[in-house]
Amino acid sequence: MSKLVAGNWKMFGNKDMIYDIKKIDRHCNDTKCEVAICPPFQLISAANEQTKNIKIGAQNCHINTNGAHTGEVSAEMLTEVGAELIIVGHSERRQDNSETNDIVKLKTEAVHRAGATAIVCIGETLEERTAEQTLSVLQEQMLKSLPKKVTPVNTVVAYEPVWAIGTGLVPAADQIRAAHSFIRGFLASTYGAEAHDVKILYGGSVKDTNAKEIFSISNVNGALVGGASLKSTDFIEIIKAASNSM
Ligand code: PGA
Repeated sequence: MSKLVAGNWKMFGNKDMIYDIKKIDRHCNDTKCEVAICPPFQLISAANEQTKNIKIGAQNCHINTNGAHTGEVSAEMLTEVGAELIIVGHSERRQDNSETNDIVKLKTEAVHRAGATAIVCIGETLEERTAEQTLSVLQEQMLKSLPKKVTPVNTVVAYEPVWAIGTGLVPAADQIRAAHSFIRGFLASTYGAEAHDVKILYGGSVKDTNAKEIFSISNVNGALVGGASLKSTDFIEIIKAASNSM
């Protein structure tokens, strides 16, 4: 299956950075992988208008379509301005905004209802890894935060060990392989044969220097990239690594 390289800009980015998005889009004229950038909300519309080769996404949405929820944005509002993917359940939101698995599931359903692809993030903390609870944590997160209907079109799963996000620490290849193989097995046993084509991204300190090795690991179908997606030259190197790995 084709790999997906998705950039998560978090709360970074101003109008000037549309230039970087256009540069990345030009590079993706003939890449063999899929590429997406999830900028902050205020850039989605302009980014969508200025690109033709890459997809534009968002980093969060509300569970409802409309309502008296001051300061919130619905999945439908995001798709209307061009978001084709929406990240849900990122560990920063689970921690900073107390998002539980139940809320992540409702948000995933909201993304599906709006016709977009949900990038559902899961991953263990360092304490959980040290206590050898990684696989049980991943299982619990998938059981509770994925809805009944999951297809390769409506869902991407992102394995992001919390301790690897923004730290420069990356799990050993064997640890990534074990987690991705476990996620693949869970998806296959829960959703059947179709789940073989659900993409599983790795996220957490992916850089131009380690992307090649990460993309060579079985069941790694792409990457969710934070810090390195903010520098277009670094992000383009990661895109090249994904293209060359296929
Ligand atoms: P990072 O972030 O690449 O900066 O570690 C990844 C993420 O949070 O999705």
